[in-house]
Amino acid sequence: MSENVKVSIKNLYKVFGANPTEALQHVYDGLSKVDLLSQHEHVLGLNNINIDIPEKRVQVIMGLSGSGKSTLIRHLNRLIDPTAGEVEVDGVDVLKMNDRELRDLRQSKMSMVFQKFALMPHRTVSDNVAYGLSLQGVRRGEALERSQKWIDRVGLTGFEKSYPSQLSGGMQQRVGLARALATDADILLMDEAFSALDPLIRTDMQDVLLELQAELNKTIIFITHDLDEALRIGDDIAILRDGGLVQQGDPQDIVLRPVDEYVSDFIMDINRGRVLKVRSLMEAGKKGGEVEIDFDMALEDAMQRMKDEPSKPATVMKDGKAVGALDMRALIDAIERPAPETASGTVYR
Ligand SMILES: Nc1ncnc2c1ncn2[C@@H]1O[C@H](COP(=O)(O)OP(=O)(O)O)[C@@H](O)[C@H]1O
Ligand SMILES: [Mg+2]
Repeated sequence: MSENVKVSIKNLYKVFGANPTEALQHVYDGLSKVDLLSQHEHVLGLNNINIDIPEKRVQVIMGLSGSGKSTLIRHLNRLIDPTAGEVEVDGVDVLKMNDRELRDLRQSKMSMVFQKFALMPHRTVSDNVAYGLSLQGVRRGEALERSQKWIDRVGLTGFEKSYPSQLSGGMQQRVGLARALATDADILLMDEAFSALDPLIRTDMQDVLLELQAELNKTIIFITHDLDEALRIGDDIAILRDGGLVQQGDPQDIVLRPVDEYVSDFIMDINRGRVLKVRSLMEAGKKGGEVEIDFDMALEDAMQRMKDEPSKPATVMKDGKAVGALDMRALIDAIERPAPETASGTVYR
């Protein structure tokens, strides 16, 4: 891969309890999270996580409640120290950082957006957005000026003097986002940032984030337990269970080839025709018929195009060139939810 790795997580373990280092030995010996708790009264938070997060992309981290998502993200800015393993940001080991470097990491390189917004209730929108800059020592006048740009960008012009309690949930999270962006940090950590919002507002916020990201190219680490959200905004998805990484990769690939039942359960209810794209199913290099479909088209749209000539494969076009073919049978097979035993191709426990 030509992409630069922004954050590298290596052999990361986190055990919560009175004597984590000792308890970790049992994990190395293969003890499960459940057994570690029942036999040794320690909680396995993270179990040998390895992920390289490329710069300028959206890395989604998914998993059921308690699977270790927040624990993982808090290691990145060292709000939590690992029991074992390494976290590198821009090639620098965060565990070796001194106080000044850590402060710089938290204030300038990364910003966090929280589910509960975490705004200061007694301060105005302007002051909330400018907060990170004032921590950095930026003069008030300049901080307010720079903040204004982000207030405008998230669509809150005119609300500068409002207090958080005067705003709706969606607007409050716009403030949270503007505050995170105002420091110019190139990594955004978003822990269930949109999960508390109503569905329509949530979709709006996803749009705001995607629009900004198209221009800003931040490295975004986005935690969610909502698959639709993950598929909408993630360039890559990592799925956690019981502190371990069960699958990571291109969202299309996860939907087409879930590694186990836990992952298939996650993707069970999605609209496969809308989520899956022609590019994931086409036969590259093969010649198709007269009907043309686009490389990045959703399968349900491709199906509309193909339905008048269902017996012939369609030609897949990318940037005005034919790059492959897709036949109706493959398309329908992919849209139909696979039977459980064919969903993974792996053995069930
Ligand atoms: N400070 C802590 N002390 C003990 N156990 C913890 C602590 N923080 C998290 N855990 C446990 O670690 C596991 C992962 O938690 P968390 O990262 O919050 O999951 P998620 O964010 O995916 O819901 C859970 O079993 C949780 O109970
Ligand atoms: Mg959490």
